[in-house]
Amino acid sequence: MISIRFINPDQTQQDIQARPGDSLMKAAVNANIQGIEADCGGSLTCATCHVMVDAPWSGLLPAPVPDELDMLDFASSPVVPQSRLSCQIRLTQELDGLVVRLPASQH
Ligand code: FES
Repeated sequence: MISIRFINPDQTQQDIQARPGDSLMKAAVNANIQGIEADCGGSLTCATCHVMVDAPWSGLLPAPVPDELDMLDFASSPVVPQSRLSCQIRLTQELDGLVVRLPASQH
């Protein structure tokens, strides 16, 4: 299993365990993480699964594809260089201990 920590805008934390192979969004939804809406179910058409991934974790992820960057333009909270759409992050054992920050809102 992979340990993941979500940091809320108020700096409180939500910790979960997830299976390798799932997307970060799916793992979050399965664990009822507050702050991930995922309205489109992972089809890259909503931007309500926005998270921020800081170093060193960001360096372990494949670069976002152009469609992910385009969809991030529709995120309701400010997009920063660390912004990603969690449905596009595939969990691998290498990501055990992953820490991501949640935006203030997804709508
Ligand atoms: Fe809709 Fe990620 S769940 S873009």
